[in-house]
Amino acid sequence: MKVAIISYSFSGNTKRACVFLMEKIKEKNIEAAIFDLKPSREEKKFLLQCRDAFYKHKIEIQNPVSELNTYDFVIFASPVWAFTFAPALRAYLENIKDLTDKKCACFLTYGSGMGKNKALEELEEILKAKGARILFSKNIPGSKTKDKEYLEEQFKSLVDIISD
Ligand SMILES: Cc1cc2nc3c(=O)[nH]c(=O)nc-3n(C[C@H](O)[C@H](O)[C@H](O)COP(=O)(O)O)c2cc1C
Repeated sequence: MKVAIISYSFSGNTKRACVFLMEKIKEKNIEAAIFDLKPSREEKKFLLQCRDAFYKHKIEIQNPVSELNTYDFVIFASPVWAFTFAPALRAYLENIKDLTDKKCACFLTYGSGMGKNKALEELEEILKAKGARILFSKNIPGSKTKDKEYLEEQFKSLVDIISD
């Protein structure tokens, strides 16, 4: 069993949750790796980040495709940006043609919570349209990503699914 965690994080919340999850998976003696998505030109201004996310502007990422077919389970993670997920993850997904029968999970971290359900549903729809089997999806408050007990509880069912 090999697990890939494909993640974009601007201010560290999503990354922190990914690192926690990776460690929990590794504790079960399962191979897991995080792939950090890096925009070729990262937008740092809040309003411009919102614009790019909201209008689904195409951005370029430095590492468009990693060999997902060598992984048995793929987890996608991003912050919620302007009621959707971040453009870097969208760019990555646009490059993936097929996830037929791939076991997948996704989670988003959020701030106020505005648009978080819409964002997660949209991500699920995109994965499903590529044939993915989504076995877990969740929204996690960014403010809770330093709370290891909270993360453990949130990710317990996912770690169980992966290690079953
Ligand atoms: C450009 C931008 C747009 C955001 N839009 C939303 C939003 O629509 N809804 C929400 O709940 N949080 C929103 N947030 C808050 C982030 O989703 C939250 O802080 C997240 O945990 C950040 O993850 P990161 O530290 O991995 O970048 C936004 C943050 C940024 C920077």
